[in-house]
Amino acid sequence: MAKPILIIAALLLFFSSCQQQKQANRQQLDFNKCWHFQLGDHPDAVDMEYDSESWRKLTLPHDWSIEGEFSKEHPTTPEGGALPAGMGWYRKTFSLPESDSFKTVWIEFDGIYRNSEIWINGHYLGIRPNGYSSFQHELSPHLNYGEEANVIAVKVDNSQQPNSRWYTGSGIYRNVRLIKTGKVHVDHWGTFITTPKITESSSNINLQLTIKNQSNENRQVRVLTTILDGDNNKVASMESDHQMENDSTLTFDQNLDLADPVLWDVDRPYMYSALTQIYDGNELLDDYRTPFGIRYFDFHPEKGFSLNGKPMKILGVCNHHDLGALGAAVNERAIERQLEILKEMGVNAIRTAHNPPAPELLDLCDRMGFIVQDEAFDEWKKRKAKEGYHKDWDEWHKQDLEDMIRRDRNHPSIFMWSIGNEIREQFDSTGITITRELVSIVKNLDTTRPVTCALTENEPDKNFIYQSGALDLLGFNYKHRDYEKFPEWYPGEKLIATENMSALATRGEYFFPSDSIMRWPEAHDKPLVTGKDDYTVSAFDQVSAYWGSTHEETWTTIKNQDFMSGLFVWTGFDYLGEPIPYPYPARSSYFGIIDLAGFPKDAFYMYKSEWTNTPTLHLFPHWNWEEGKEVDVWAYYNQADEVELFLNDKSVGKRKKEGDDLNVMWRLPYEKGTIRAVSRKDGKTVLEREIQTAGKAAKIHLEADRSDIKADGKDLSFITVSIRDKNGNIVPNADDLVTFEVEGNGFIAGVDNGYQASLEPFKANYRKAFRGKCLVIVQATENPGPITLKANAEGISSSEITVNVQ
Ligand code: GAL
Repeated sequence: MAKPILIIAALLLFFSSCQQQKQANRQQLDFNKCWHFQLGDHPDAVDMEYDSESWRKLTLPHDWSIEGEFSKEHPTTPEGGALPAGMGWYRKTFSLPESDSFKTVWIEFDGIYRNSEIWINGHYLGIRPNGYSSFQHELSPHLNYGEEANVIAVKVDNSQQPNSRWYTGSGIYRNVRLIKTGKVHVDHWGTFITTPKITESSSNINLQLTIKNQSNENRQVRVLTTILDGDNNKVASMESDHQMENDSTLTFDQNLDLADPVLWDVDRPYMYSALTQIYDGNELLDDYRTPFGIRYFDFHPEKGFSLNGKPMKILGVCNHHDLGALGAAVNERAIERQLEILKEMGVNAIRTAHNPPAPELLDLCDRMGFIVQDEAFDEWKKRKAKEGYHKDWDEWHKQDLEDMIRRDRNHPSIFMWSIGNEIREQFDSTGITITRELVSIVKNLDTTRPVTCALTENEPDKNFIYQSGALDLLGFNYKHRDYEKFPEWYPGEKLIATENMSALATRGEYFFPSDSIMRWPEAHDKPLVTGKDDYTVSAFDQVSAYWGSTHEETWTTIKNQDFMSGLFVWTGFDYLGEPIPYPYPARSSYFGIIDLAGFPKDAFYMYKSEWTNTPTLHLFPHWNWEEGKEVDVWAYYNQADEVELFLNDKSVGKRKKEGDDLNVMWRLPYEKGTIRAVSRKDGKTVLEREIQTAGKAAKIHLEADRSDIKADGKDLSFITVSIRDKNGNIVPNADDLVTFEVEGNGFIAGVDNGYQASLEPFKANYRKAFRGKCLVIVQATENPGPITLKANAEGISSSEITVNVQ
């Protein structure tokens, strides 16, 4: 009897070890589900025996700040978004099969805000102060396999406040994954791909590979790299053999030639990938895929930027990382929607103000065609925020900067590394030493991209960061009137405007006369003139912070300066925090070309008319005023010679842009009815736009940005709610309270209306309309089927819309 059992056992062992061998390939697991969360400090939660059953159950990414109530008493201050921060703990229990005991297992965090500390099964793994850095910990030495469970505990401490000049969010707000590999594997961030020689007919591809052998045997490995094109066809390959000692790390290069490369550019962001496979004989030990692109570029002191030999202006926006009503919690679709809106406006570049972004943003920029300025710091050793990064500088800046470069250097979308924003050290000689140190940290890891820094001191002899001589590309923020002197001040230097405008606007608000320019405040020591007591400000392009300009002022300057490689408007989207110059209850910024809910303000169309060739005609403001009031009407247009305006079918006159004009304007006494603009080229109508005086609010109108979404528990449909009169006109000042009900396989992830001083919560099933509109963000569950959203408001007809979840 004993014998057959032994044979079966041996066979089982054999098959399971075979299986083991096949499974030795890399596994990357989404590790976001089934966490327990509790606000406050819970030091005992590191113990495996601790019972966290009563804690809240949630799925990451998670930002607890966005769930809170606004108050100006929160230590984050309105500059930080006036939302709560504090401390919180996360815990997750998980088990791993016995077969994993032969593997290396590590956990990757894309970012935790802030001061995170991690324990696995009671073992302390470490702290990470910087809330934007991605990092990993190897778990294998401390793991249990089979029946016995594992517990990971994460303490997040965002209680030292204020530590930022904008809203940060709090918690494990980016993705987490568990990686399992065989003992021989490509190291974490272990590939670096460059394309040093590109000609029309070929591109050289250099791979720098770092491979680890964590086993206790020497291994002879064969490393095969296959280049796959955008359709996954094999287009080149190369292999090399390596002897690896036990417990060792090996870094080596592979060089390939690729014939007829398709170049990456913003209009056709063509991506390749490199599949690296490690073999021992015929046994596949690891496979690792690195997406990359092939492109070349130049920043020229006189001619500016060119991509793949073609001159092109960098037309960028700066953005902070929050996603409006979703807070800092990363959601790929929410980022994609932001980029889609920016693309429509003609934006071709993003500056990640002022920190390393979520990796999903960079993946999307690779795939959608945006040039990225990846930025490391807002503070060096000298303080900006009281509890800011300067406190961690000495101990952490090297690691944080290196990790950003290592993580991001394969993205074709990244064209510049920025080592800082408006750094205080530019004003004294410490700026020289620190700049040199930081640039050498970057150059050690990547010499293929210029290093820049966003400077505010324009005069060369007063700017010590410039004087370090270490920057490849000089970045300047604001004071665009100096730019004409730059060729003389900075001969032979490559130049870019890293931050501009800081124009202020509230969607749907208009001040008259529209052609008077206002700087609010006029200076730091001047009293704040805020205009209206609801803290709204005109969306005619007429208001800016005193250190900035209107959109028109800076763009007309830079567009004519070839030596300026481009610009980054502050900002693409309104963001949480920094409501300057407005006091609480203002709690989000006014600088966006697009409001916090994602609704374009009027300046969006100025850029669209200038930055795209898409025929554009945008007419504003709305047409509901007091009878007889002198009203200005503006139009932004392109692809036409002139625009004619009609009021109730009578011509008010033709206008054309002269010289540097970016818009045309008519001033007329208001008369209820219809305004209609017609743009014409060579006498032929190009576009027509019409606005009617809206009547009383009569109904709710719902429109989804996408009506088919994925049943992946993450996908979103952004539903615009507008209050309409009986004829379908949006009621421009409607502020009806709209309540929402969701049925089916989804839930409300957030609501907003873009009003910078609204104190309504973002996580709610209601929202007041603001200037006629609000937004509901509906999130799919993992179950396919329809979601129906019903919207009700008192005294007007309700509405419903269905989104399919597949
Ligand atoms: C800049 C700064 C940005 C933001 C902006 C507001 O000086 O770099 O982070 O504060 O001002 O205008």
